[in-house]
Amino acid sequence: MTWTRKDLLGLEDLSKDELELILATTDSFKEVSTREIKKVPALRGKTVVNLFYEPSTRTRVSFEVAAKRLSADVINISAGESSVRKGETLIDTGRNIEALKADIIVIRHNASGAATMLARQVQVSVVNAGDGWHEHPTQALLDIFTLKEKLGQIQGLNVSIVGDIAHSRVARSNIWGLTKLGARVTVCAPEILIPPGIEQFGVSVTHDIDEALRNADAVNVLRMQFERDEGGAFPGELEYFKNFGITKERLAKAKKNILIMHPGPINRGIEMSSEVADCPNSVILEQVTNGIAVRMAVLFLVAQARDKNHETIN
Ligand code: CP
Repeated sequence: MTWTRKDLLGLEDLSKDELELILATTDSFKEVSTREIKKVPALRGKTVVNLFYEPSTRTRVSFEVAAKRLSADVINISAGESSVRKGETLIDTGRNIEALKADIIVIRHNASGAATMLARQVQVSVVNAGDGWHEHPTQALLDIFTLKEKLGQIQGLNVSIVGDIAHSRVARSNIWGLTKLGARVTVCAPEILIPPGIEQFGVSVTHDIDEALRNADAVNVLRMQFERDEGGAFPGELEYFKNFGITKERLAKAKKNILIMHPGPINRGIEMSSEVADCPNSVILEQVTNGIAVRMAVLFLVAQARDKNHETIN
């Protein structure tokens, strides 16, 4: 199978073969970070621009580290410190970055669809680093890579996603990726945080945290996005922790080796207790480490596809 897409915008459009190709490419790049000199020349001479309209710690740093390990030049732009503050549109910003001869734009934006809109307007590769509530494909890929690394395969796994499903791009990308690869996905949250009709995406729904944990091989715990609670309809922090928080007592009734995952940032004492976040079952920091190899794979594949497309056109 050959990768032909110049962009990575989400997992919804990807085939099972494409997902498996990214995971296999990630596997081959993972070893680079264990070397004394953690660098390969795969993207030497290329320029990657990280264009972030929203705050980020893990994703931005991880894309920067990934691009540098591939020997690319990296430029970071925070919208708050750019000409966006003077009213420049996303498309104009993208076209100017293209005019500056960048090869890949990695974009995080608060609007769902922003990465797709940009990709249609520029010839450079666009990688979605999270757009609104829509998708966060590289987060789901690193979650899936971590699951596969720890448990051997995705096919047949029971994965529960717990938390603010309604506002979560991480949940959406995980659902697309996991179901295509044959996992059984259960989502668990208070009713108000589950989008109506989500079952049509091939997932089970429960509002009972003990049920979500009972047969799970892994639980991916999402951040409660209280900042989105405009109408005051969300449960309070204490109420949420009491009814949905992952605690040692709740885990005592789950599978002994259940993996505890979280995309970060964690709100300790709300989504999970500190002792769960730091317990031996937790792979939260391994997810972060795997993000580097996943993003190396994605940057490499989209750059290669764009070069091939260029050769065909010229
Ligand atoms: N998981 C994630 O997207 O974290 P950041 O917001 O820190 O990038």
